[in-house]
Amino acid sequence: MEFYQLSFILLLIFLVDLSNYSVLADNTDANYEINNATGYKEKAAKCNVYEGSWIYDNSSNPLYGTSTCPFIGLDCQNLGRPDKNYLHYRWQPTGCNIPRFDGQDFLTRFKGKKILFVGDSLSNNMWVSLTCMLHASVPCAEYTFKPNKSLSTFTIPEYEISVNFLKNGFLVDLVADKTRGLVLKLDSISTGKQWLGSDVVIFNTYHWWFHIRRAKTWDYFQTGDQYVKEMNRMEAFKIALTTWAKWIDQNIDPSKTRVFYQGVSPVHLNGSEWGKPGKTCLGETEPVKGPSYNNEGEAIVRSVIGKMAKPVDLLDVTAMTELRKDGHPSIYAGGGKRLNDCSHWCLPGIPDAWNQLLYAALLSD
Ligand SMILES: *[C@@H]1O[C@H](CO)[C@@H](O)[C@H](O)[C@H]1NC(C)=O
Ligand SMILES: *[C@@H]1O[C@H](CO)[C@@H](O)[C@H](O)[C@H]1NC(C)=O
Ligand SMILES: *[C@@H]1O[C@H](CO)[C@@H](O)[C@H](O)[C@H]1NC(C)=O
Ligand SMILES: *[C@@H]1O[C@H](CO)[C@@H](O)[C@H](O)[C@H]1NC(C)=O
Repeated sequence: MEFYQLSFILLLIFLVDLSNYSVLADNTDANYEINNATGYKEKAAKCNVYEGSWIYDNSSNPLYGTSTCPFIGLDCQNLGRPDKNYLHYRWQPTGCNIPRFDGQDFLTRFKGKKILFVGDSLSNNMWVSLTCMLHASVPCAEYTFKPNKSLSTFTIPEYEISVNFLKNGFLVDLVADKTRGLVLKLDSISTGKQWLGSDVVIFNTYHWWFHIRRAKTWDYFQTGDQYVKEMNRMEAFKIALTTWAKWIDQNIDPSKTRVFYQGVSPVHLNGSEWGKPGKTCLGETEPVKGPSYNNEGEAIVRSVIGKMAKPVDLLDVTAMTELRKDGHPSIYAGGGKRLNDCSHWCLPGIPDAWNQLLYAALLSD
């Protein structure tokens, strides 16, 4: 693992106010029938693919492994995780089927395209997952993979495709101020130019807003000419996301760029949420049985995106992901036993399912 990836992880294990959960309707099972990409478009609009359940199926295997993906990073098996069941769950929507991920179809269909992930280390998690899924589908094709502190790139020249990751934890500006230190400007975006010029952009921000103590990377919040040391973090997140939404509405041409928002990725630090008070994700080997909860952050994301003028596709993965308390690296994140990572995801793992849903969404435009 690259050192910078490890430092992301170290910064990100504190987190998130998960209060105010309530219960959603139960998931029901559905007959599974694998579709290929052909013909998916016609059927696509017929169901909410984010409503469904995780089905254990040990004949469904990960699309890649250490040997087929040289850049996994959070390869939990390789980092010592003893259990394997978490590798064999697949997502089954209740009302319809989604196509199995077909990397060769993806590469052919999106030949010449630029795909960009913008956000925090959960964006990085999803980016690495997609690069592994694509590389594994054409293992002999040449590729370039260049991790970087700001813009990381992956390309497969034969298909003229690039899948990049731009690190940006807040989306709004974080600037140095002589007297105040680092100021998080909730109503300002000055780096948006970097978001232009791609065919598909997948944004995400959330986790960094809830950092405390040493993980907190700013000194003041600023809105207009008001500076405050502390404020309700959920409120700060909402203001910033609204600023992002305005920027998208003013600057994105939907005929050139398809915009997605990667839904809030839940953490599993508080076992009360799944009936095991005092526990974390450590030692969890199965998904939560039964219903998911409501996530306050995701409710804000939905409401802000719902008011936008330009089309933004929400990858509404929060509820499905909330069930996967078993999918985190926990102490197999590469930082030794004292690092219990319950916010990122093992690869292969849950982000592969997010990318399968991204693929389904791209097919059904
Ligand atoms: C994909 O499915 C269609 C029918 O839905 C079928 O005609 C076609 O042969 C399938 N293609 C592959 C590669 O399996
Ligand atoms: C899959 O699970 C079934 C039932 O639990 C078991 O009998 C079988 O040996 C498993 N197969 C593999 C390949 O692990
Ligand atoms: C990261 O990218 C910048 C800008 O493209 C480049 O100048 C720098 O050398 C890269 N750093 C690494 C470690 O690759
Ligand atoms: C864990 O969740 C429960 C129930 O939502 C809550 O009462 C408790 O304060 C939470 N614990 C922590 C440490 O956040």
